[in-house]
Amino acid sequence: VEHTVTTLPTTRGPGCPFDPPAELVEAQEHGPISRFTFPDGHRGWLVTGYDLVRAALGDRRFSSRKELMRHHPLIDYGDVEVPPAPPGEFLLMDGPRHARYRKPLVGKFTVRRMRQLTERVERITADHLDAMEKTGPPTDLVTAFAKPIPAIVICELLGVPYEDRGSFQRHVESFVSGETSDEDLMAAYVATQAYLAELVAAKRANPTDDVLSDLTHGDLTDEELRGMSLLLLAAGLDTTANMLALGTFALLRNPAQLAALRADPALTDRAVEELLRYLSVAKMFMRATLEDVELGGRTIEAGTTVLLSYNTANRDPEHFPDPHVLDLRRDDGGHLAFGHGVHQCLGQQLARVEMRVAFPALLNRFPTLRLAVPEEEVVLRPETADIYGVKSLPVTWDV
Ligand code: HEM
Repeated sequence: VEHTVTTLPTTRGPGCPFDPPAELVEAQEHGPISRFTFPDGHRGWLVTGYDLVRAALGDRRFSSRKELMRHHPLIDYGDVEVPPAPPGEFLLMDGPRHARYRKPLVGKFTVRRMRQLTERVERITADHLDAMEKTGPPTDLVTAFAKPIPAIVICELLGVPYEDRGSFQRHVESFVSGETSDEDLMAAYVATQAYLAELVAAKRANPTDDVLSDLTHGDLTDEELRGMSLLLLAAGLDTTANMLALGTFALLRNPAQLAALRADPALTDRAVEELLRYLSVAKMFMRATLEDVELGGRTIEAGTTVLLSYNTANRDPEHFPDPHVLDLRRDDGGHLAFGHGVHQCLGQQLARVEMRVAFPALLNRFPTLRLAVPEEEVVLRPETADIYGVKSLPVTWDV
């Protein structure tokens, strides 16, 4: 009989807050692909093994189109039709529609811009460390460090003027945090949309040196530019912020690894890849089959929803020896933390720059950095949140 999973687990572990949920590890032990029964009764699939997740991501017959994602793993939508992704939100598009938006952006993450951004990330990081030092311990690393750095970086990318940053960040914050009530969420979303409309108009009238201004020279409409900007915000903030905070927590819980990283800064790039693999904060994405497809010896019928677990794929013992061990010296082994194939993370070089700058800067500034509460008291997000992470990370240090 086929192993069947019927509900997604709500927490990681048990035991270790970084390990995939026991139910998903158990599914993986039965084999790399299981049946999954959705809340609305749809019989879909759950892919947990590295090779099969990677294969599905590299196969265009597995679609990302929003209107095909009718079966949600947590919510019963009933018979409600799901509309296609709005202009610009290309994460949930395929083929030429996806390429129309992704192509012009790929060219914008150039070496020159990355270098510029690296210098800015160094400056922004130093400013936040200065502020932490000034306020003194204890502090919440999430609000003092992990959230503001990626937020400012995206502002630089989009060319948000300094005077607008405070209000813009507050709105964006509340719609990516996953902690906001539905009403506030709607209000924040509307405010962000309105602001982006103004911003696009401003960049058309007076282009400045940023990605958004560059894009106004092409044939993209205002509505499309707004949608693309919104996607960059939605995809780039919460992910990076949680990697920084959860990554710091993981290092503090693994003192030998932390000591190795402090002793050898040359380890930083590898350490970042290992933290990406180990934490897999962007843990699960869906695809829908456009035709009957063979995967792992099963036939997945056309129109079936398939859950791809990047988290368990990155802990697959067939691909990563001792997968549940955080080993900063590990060869990255082609982890799937940024996905794979046509939708592979567009912002990955930028995210890497942020992590490669921020982790060592934090550790150098505070050589005695440690948790300010017992580790069991660190409040984690539920595994059902879109992006996994810590809600707050109280830290302290010797002054
Ligand atoms: C796509 C992870 C940071 C922009 C993705 C995907 C993953 C991912 C797994 C693929 C989704 C899929 O397979 O359907 C992450 C992680 C990050 C990060 C773990 C931080 C460590 C960023 C940043 C930006 C960004 C900083 C923007 C500046 C995007 C965009 C897509 C994407 C635009 C959609 C690409 C497409 O559909 O073609 N990301 N991301 N991400 N990411 Fe990231």
